[in-house]
Order: sequence, then C-alpha cells, then structure tokens
Amino acid sequence: MTEIPEHLLKRAQAAKAKATGEPAPAEAPAVVAPAEAAAPAEAAAPAPVVEAPPEPVAPYNDAAASRKKIPWWAAGALLLLPIWAISYVGTLERPPQEATGVLAEGAQVYEARCASCHGATGGGGSGYAMADGEVLSTFPSAADHVVWVARGSDSFGLGNSYGAPDRGRIVQGGMPGWADVLTTEQLIGVVLYERAALSGSDEDAALAEALDHAIEVGDLDLHGHLDPATVTADEVEAILDSVAHDDGY
Ligand code: HEC
Repeated sequence: MTEIPEHLLKRAQAAKAKATGEPAPAEAPAVVAPAEAAAPAEAAAPAPVVEAPPEPVAPYNDAAASRKKIPWWAAGALLLLPIWAISYVGTLERPPQEATGVLAEGAQVYEARCASCHGATGGGGSGYAMADGEVLSTFPSAADHVVWVARGSDSFGLGNSYGAPDRGRIVQGGMPGWADVLTTEQLIGVVLYERAALSGSDEDAALAEALDHAIEVGDLDLHGHLDPATVTADEVEAILDSVAHDDGY
C-alpha cells in the first residue's frame, strides 16, 4: 500500500467533511495549528472550516434578549390607552362659557367688531364716542340703538337723520350694518354693553340682567338674526319688553 502524503489525506478528509456537513474532527484543530499553517503544503489546503466565533452581542441587544417579555396584562392596558387618552383630553377642554351673560358677550363683540372705530373704552375714533353718556344722548331708546347697529349707515341712507331729533345726527357713512353678522343676542348684547358698561346706564344693566335670566330659564331664544331690511324699533322693543316687565324693570 502506497503511503498517501498526510497533507493529501487531510485535504480529502476536509473535502468530505465539507460535502457531508460533518465536521472533520481530527482535521479542524490541525488546520488552525500554527505549525501546520506555516507548512508550505498547507497553502493549497481549502479554506479553513473553523466556525467563526459568535459575533459579540451588543449590550443593548443583549439586554433585549435577556430581559423579561411584556407581561400578559400589558396588552389589555395598551388597548385601553387610547380610550383613556381621549377621555383625559376631554377633561382638559374648557366647558363652553355658559355663564358669560349678555353683557359679557357684548363686551367680546365690541372688542372684536367695534373698538377699532369707536375706541377700546368707547372714547371714539373714526366713529363717535360711546362713553360718558354720548351714545345715550344719540339713542335715548335702546331699541332705536339696536336698529341703527343692525342696519348701519348705508341702510339708513346718506344725508338722512338718525337718533334723537335734538341730537341732530345726519348719516355721513362709514358705519357697517351688523344684523347679518351678529345674532340677535350679540346685537342686543353689544348695544347694552355700549349703554351700560361704556356709558354707565344702570337701566340698561338691569335690562341685560333680565335678558340673562330669561335666556337661562329658556323663555327667550335670540340665536336668530334680525332682518336688516325690515327690522323696526317696535320689533326690538317687543323683545326687550318681554323680559323687562317680568322682572319689574
Ligand atoms: C369701520 C368703522 C366702524 C366700525 C367697525 C363700527 N362703527 Fe359704529 N360708526 C362708525 C361711523 C363712521 C359712524 C357714524 C356713521 C354715519 O355718520 O353714517 C358710526 C356710528 C355709530 C353709532 C352712532 C353713534 C352716534 O352717537 O351717532 C353707534 C351706536 C355705533 N356706531 C355702534 C357701533 C357698534 C355697536 C359697532 C360694532 C358692532 C360699530 N359701531 C362698529 C364707524 C364704525
């Protein structure tokens, strides 16, 4: 029997091991042995079949692999989370400002729609002053005041008179009509605000209170709009009187 050179033998073993998938027990350590590697014959040897050492596991991966899994009840808690979130946000929302009342609503309207021309405190600007009884002199009647604000300059017609006859007001233009923009409640509110808050009329403050009461108990609903084309002082008077007499005003 001829001697098979050892390196050929090993090569055959290695090839066989590779083909069958079985490790070649005797061969593996030999391949990595430095002495063998240094041998010139080894240069032709197949790639070492040494298994690569396991990749080092990063600490963050290691933690993920070794920590406890999510407990069973967490799934239920997660499902409830959106429901909780929605109801929680609901509690954060301010309730609609119910308790504001007609005058407070009028104050908001005045600030947003009127102050730019009549002054923040009613001192006047491009429009007349509303403070210090000025507007009460023009409109002794709240109903006439409401009709003016509802219709504005154009609807009254340039050159026509408006307000109390002895006041001598002539329409010069520039006052918008508001009936289409503001609800009846807002209109009456801003007029009473001008009269009570800016011009100091106690009578109109009492009227505003009476309106608040009637609205609160459901006797009065002013969510509609006055028709600027047809609104009359009588129509407005009827609304104001409906609450005024109830409260002895
Ligand atoms: C764009 C400017 C402007 C805005 C905004 C404005 N007004 Fe006027 N307002 C005027 C002018 C100008 C007059 C005079 C109109 C005229 O002579 O035709 C006037 C007149 C008036 C008068 C009569 C005053 C008097 O003594 O003769 C009242 C009351 C009044 N405005 C209330 C309001 C209210 C209430 C608002 C807000 C809802 C408002 N105005 C918004 C310009 C404005």
